[in-house]
Amino acid sequence: MAEAAATLPPIEELFNPHSREYMNDPVPQCLELARRGPIVWYEPWQAWIVTRMPDIMACWKTEPLSSDFYDWEFAPARPPEDEWSNFERAMIGHSLLADHDHHRLVRRVTAPAFSRNVVDAIQRKIEPDVKRLFDELGTPDSFDYIEEIASKIPFISITRMVGIPEKYWPDIKQVILTFTETWNPTISDEQRESARQDSNRAIDILKEVIAERRQAPVQDDFLSTLLKIEAENEGFEEGDVITLILALIGAGADTTLVAQQWSVYALLKNPDQIQKALASPDAFSNAFSEINRWGVSSKMGFARYAPRDMEFMGQQLRKGVMVLMMPHLKDHDPEYYANPETMDVERVFDPDVMFGYGPRYCIGAALAKRQLYLTISELFKRFPNITLDGEPERDENDHNAIVFKRLQLKTNVA
Ligand code: HEM
Repeated sequence: MAEAAATLPPIEELFNPHSREYMNDPVPQCLELARRGPIVWYEPWQAWIVTRMPDIMACWKTEPLSSDFYDWEFAPARPPEDEWSNFERAMIGHSLLADHDHHRLVRRVTAPAFSRNVVDAIQRKIEPDVKRLFDELGTPDSFDYIEEIASKIPFISITRMVGIPEKYWPDIKQVILTFTETWNPTISDEQRESARQDSNRAIDILKEVIAERRQAPVQDDFLSTLLKIEAENEGFEEGDVITLILALIGAGADTTLVAQQWSVYALLKNPDQIQKALASPDAFSNAFSEINRWGVSSKMGFARYAPRDMEFMGQQLRKGVMVLMMPHLKDHDPEYYANPETMDVERVFDPDVMFGYGPRYCIGAALAKRQLYLTISELFKRFPNITLDGEPERDENDHNAIVFKRLQLKTNVA
């Protein structure tokens, strides 16, 4: 086995998610990487890649590695505590990412804020905004779905979810766009610093919103629920509320944007699946997993870092090295899925790992699926005969995902 591996070309010659070939068809490269074995060193990223589901799930479940960006060997130095700005206080001091015990406490006590009642209430708040977007769009012959609809959804859902009053919207808008850049390993230090400053401004705004909400709590409102949880649980403080909201912005904005465009694209490429996918919120929930499997939009994976020099899956890891889990490598592997090239929204996923697994399972999964269902249903309600207006051009500049530059749709309205 080792001998065979030595005669193979270096994996970076066959797997390069930033290449044009990957962008146009990631499947052969993903299969090639998975064939290399359960854990593969990827020189260009100075990272280990975990390729197989049982190992990824074990890693998700037992968390032998750190999720804290500051544990990465190439992260900026962790500043001393007396130099922390609001940003470091939110991201280090009360980090949802850093300490496993604290993370579990945060997840346990905040579960009521993600309960069905609260998600229903959030949906009721988002629905008029989504309808307004389509009203403003009117009935053009053709339009860019990304510009007119998809790009506006993350902002609407985060602000409505958290309950940020409209007077703060212009100020908070920038951070929703740039927040994930604060720990993006692939961009420049200057860009990261500018994103960090946006985040500091956003934290000041969040503090004002929290102070206002303490004066006037609202029933079934996400933030009011979190403040009630804060009052009832020792160890869960205002800093945790702020960190959690930032985590929602960080984890919820780009993912939503990618999910929006792929949902529309995949359904329009497979129009026989539209009705089944939108039959009910539950049907859509499964359809969304299939849309993601079929589309294979990921370029990277889920990052973890070795907290110390350690052995992991038979390899010696140096402290701080990045380990990327890549569940998407399996998505067109016939060993996992029969007829992988066919999109079948009724395909059974067992287990369904679209939103992760174990202690870090996506907090926003229910909300993400609901907001997608709401928007995509509205699209097909308004434009039942809609089609792609040509094959959309893919955007080479996105580091994390295969996305489209534009998603031009022909409404075919009479
Ligand atoms: C379709 C869109 C989405 C997908 C596919 C998705 C997927 C995931 C996955 C796979 C994880 C686990 C990551 C890991 O193990 O490193 C995760 C975590 C997370 N997601 Fe999502 N997500 C989506 C949307 C959202 C939204 C809309 C929100 C917020 C409203 C959100 C909030 C979070 C948070 C806070 C975490 C971290 C949980 C923790 O560490 O305990 N996600 N998501």
